[in-house]
This record gives sequence, C-alpha cells and structure tokens, in this order.
Amino acid sequence: MTRTLAPLALVAAALLAASCSSHATPAPAVTYPDKDRAAAAQALLSGPDWYRHAVFYEVDVRSFQDSNGDGIGDLKGLTSRLDELKSLGIDALWLMPIMPTPFVDSGYDVADYEDVSPDYGALGDLDALLAAAHPRGMRVMPDLALTPPPDQHAWFRHPRPPTTSAHADWYIWSDTPSDPNIGCGTFSAQFGSSAWQLDATRNQYYFHRFYAGQPDLNYRNPAVVKATLDVARFWLDRGVDGFRCDVIGLLVESATGCDMIPETQDYIRQLRAVLDSYPNRAMVAESTNYSSAAAYFGNGKDMFHMAFNFDYGYFWSMPFSGTLASAVEKPFLDSQKLNPQGAQDALVIGSHDVGRAYDAARGIQSRWERAAFVQMTMPGTPYVYYGEELALQSGSTAVVDTRDYARTPMVWAKADPNHGFTTGSKPWIPFGANADQTSLEGEKGDPSSTYSYYEQLLAIRRGREAFGTGSLQVLTVDDPSIALWVRASSDETYVMAMSMDEEDAHSGTAQGANLPGDAELLFGSATLTRSGADAHVSVPAAGYAIFRVR
Ligand code: NOJ
Ligand code: CA
Repeated sequence: MTRTLAPLALVAAALLAASCSSHATPAPAVTYPDKDRAAAAQALLSGPDWYRHAVFYEVDVRSFQDSNGDGIGDLKGLTSRLDELKSLGIDALWLMPIMPTPFVDSGYDVADYEDVSPDYGALGDLDALLAAAHPRGMRVMPDLALTPPPDQHAWFRHPRPPTTSAHADWYIWSDTPSDPNIGCGTFSAQFGSSAWQLDATRNQYYFHRFYAGQPDLNYRNPAVVKATLDVARFWLDRGVDGFRCDVIGLLVESATGCDMIPETQDYIRQLRAVLDSYPNRAMVAESTNYSSAAAYFGNGKDMFHMAFNFDYGYFWSMPFSGTLASAVEKPFLDSQKLNPQGAQDALVIGSHDVGRAYDAARGIQSRWERAAFVQMTMPGTPYVYYGEELALQSGSTAVVDTRDYARTPMVWAKADPNHGFTTGSKPWIPFGANADQTSLEGEKGDPSSTYSYYEQLLAIRRGREAFGTGSLQVLTVDDPSIALWVRASSDETYVMAMSMDEEDAHSGTAQGANLPGDAELLFGSATLTRSGADAHVSVPAAGYAIFRVR
C-alpha cells in the first residue's frame, strides 16, 4: 500500500521543477595555498570535538549498494564503498534504521531493537562495517527510533490479551479513544485520522502518534526507560559512535504538552549519561521544532551534542528563490542567539524526509551548489544526504509512501543497466530520473560536476578549525543581495561571499568590517578588497567565494 504524505508536497513541487533546465555555473577557480591539512584534520577529528569538525553522510542502506544480488542494499555493500566515501571527504555515517522491521514506516518501525534486519545482513556485518570504518578514521551512527516501535514488537505482543503480563503497562492504554492526560492528537494528520486504535484482543485503545501499527511506548514506566537505555548500551557496546535519535521530542505526553516536556528532557539527560560513559560518542536529534532546536541542547552539555537546524535544512529553498541575503543568514543568527553555549547545529539540504536538494533547487545547479556552500561554511556540522554529491534526482515510485521518491538507488556506474547498485535483475525500487547523467563514474574527475564541487568544498573545510568551531560574524553589505560572513578560530579567519541574485553581478561595501588582513581567494570567484576599515566585495551572478584573511 502506498501513502501520500502532505509535507512531501515539497517533493511534488520539486518534481514539476525537475523538467526545468539547469543553470550551470562555471567551474570554481580553486587554489589551495595549503591543501594538505591532513595532520590538522586528524587532530581535529580525533579529539572530543570530532563531531563538530566531521562531515557526515546520511545513508539509506537499502538503496546504497547491494552485495548479494537480491536488489536490496545491505551492510556488506556499504562496507565495500567506504573508500569512495572517504575519498569524497566523508568522516562519519548516519545509517537510516538497520534493525528488523515490518517496513510500514521504512524501518523507523523497529520490530527488534537488538538485531539487524535480514534485508541488510546480520549483527556480524555491522561489526565488520565498524571494523572497516574505524581504521579509516570514519565513524558510524545508526538511527535509533525509540518513539514508535511497531505492534509486531515482542513487547507489544506480550501484553495482549492479559493485562497482568510483564509488559502490560509498556504502552498507553485507554478504555475510550482518548485520555485526559494526553493533550495531543496524531503527530500529523498524514499518519492517520485518530491517535487511538482499538486492540480487539485486549478490548482497549492504544495511543499512537504515527501509523496505527506503531503504538507509542509508555515512558512513564521506569521499566520502559531501563529497557530502552539498555538498547542504547547494546549498540554502544558493539562499537557504534553514537545515534541519530528519531523524533525523540515526542517520547512523553501530558495533558498540556506533547513535545519536549520536562519528562522527555529527563529521559534525554539519562541517554546522554549513557553515551558519556563511553569515550568520544555523540548523538544528534531530529528536532520537531522547525524554528529552533534550542530545547534539545539542555545546558549545552547534558542533552544532545547536535540537533538539526531545520529552519535552514527544510526551508532553504525559500530564501534561494528570492534575492535577500538576510533571509539565508537568519536561521544561523537565530541559532546563535537561542542555543546555549556548546550547542552544535546539524545542517542538511536534503534528507529521506524532506526530499532531494536537486528538486528543492528546482533543478538549478547554482542554487543547490550555493545551498551546500552555506551548509559547509556556516556554523554547524554538515550531513550530506547520499547522492546529493551527484545531484541525484527523484524517482516516481512509492513503495511505502511518496518519500520513497528521494530514496532511490545510488548511481555508481554510468551505463550498467543497474548502475553498479546490484548484480540482480533489478533494484527494490527504480532509479531516480536521468540516472545515467548522475553517476559517480560520470562525475568523478569532471571539473564541472556536482561531485567535483563537493569534493573541493569538503577539502577546503577539512582540517580548518574555523569551520567546525569558529565564531560567526555576519557583515552587513550595502547591497542586500550579497551575503558576507566571517568564521574565525584562534589563528585563522575566513570570509565567505555569496550572491543571492542569479541574474546579475553585484558589488557592495561592508562598512567597518575590520578584516584582519588582505583577502586571499581559496575557492569560487569574487573579489574582496580592504579600504581602511571597510571591505569592498564584488560577486558574479549566483557567485560564491571563500577567502582567507588571516
Ligand atoms: C522520523 C523519521 O525521520 C521519519 O522518516 C519517520 O516517518 C518518522 N520519524 C516516524 O517514525
Ligand atoms: Ca542485498
């Protein structure tokens, strides 16, 4: 059965746009005055702040690389591609759910928290992935979906029908399709019209925020808290480097609130304490508050290491369809203002939920490139969605729901009928549009490709502390379509210039910019000169550049 999900109207709009012609920018002029930052990168990536300096990559294991010809990507396949990711400049992987699942919610419905889905291999294949990734300096963070396990989970099957069984209070039951202590409906109407489902065996209703087959766990029961923290320990003991925590703000409900209520925050603190009992682990939150993820950071040290800044990640296409620099700067200034010290944004421009950057950019190359430019140079840890570095385009087949349009197989080879993804007769879902034009084989080594653009941009970020942990200063230019921002660490300062106008070149002055030195162009094309305390900047249409000024 397939479903249509409302927020994916974005995807639909994007699909319409997919027919738009692309607006290619000239290959960026790149000079690397000190390209070899390997030693600096290694130092930054091995310390406790590694996750602030790393570039993450979100992998849909199912669609990345099939190793056994069944048409389904798997852990062995992913392991065989680590060197490709390393050579792109990827330091860490976020794996979409790999646990056994009825696949009603694409694996976010976990049927067994302590195993690997047979579709993707076995626990030993995860061990092998970790054993291959770690010596390469790469880290691995699986998705941990603690919120809505499916009704096939053993915990749910046990309490039915006896209400006296060990798991009787592990879910939220009511004699009526309501509960005065739960003042929230479904997470969103897409997942069903009611948040209550009658269980005929127990003759009671259970509460669910998502699909009816995903009963919510009762986190007010200490046994549930203990069991789920044990799940985290199980994976940490196996050597994972942390977790991406799915909709964790929705763990506990009350009569007046359902999102990040104090009880949920207490749970997150306990989860953080578990992570802190292992060295160098980190976790990232999927925030359900799209305008600010500040609540997920607690005091900056006791909750999440990172949380997605969706104000940029989900909505960047809006400022990029206008010409105002301030609109693109706002999400970063807001998070600087609202987040506690120590917080680190996680930055995306596409994902398994929001869709492909290509589509959000309406097929305009200079637009997704500048969106990625902001993602890599503003404060935060970038998460590249697999295939984004090739500008993969959406498909049109929905196996579970329309979000599958952005979950199509990775395109490795140009010509092969299955593009190097599988040796079987066909992949589990058809390739996205124009796959033959978006292969790694075709793009690697082509200086005008999206792949080369990503490769260069990631190389610039690598080993430069200012991008991971440096301060941010946004400079005001007297031309409102030029964005100009400064990232500084204790010993280096970089300035980024970017034009929001895709038609005409622009020039302007940032008064009182007080740049600490003359500008040396590292990436892109623009000019930046000093005149006393002021800085003059000229940027071509849809241009961008990185300068070092100290
Ligand atoms: C968040 C995940 O990102 C999304 O894909 C999933 O559908 C929901 N959680 C519900 O499980
Ligand atoms: Ca397979």
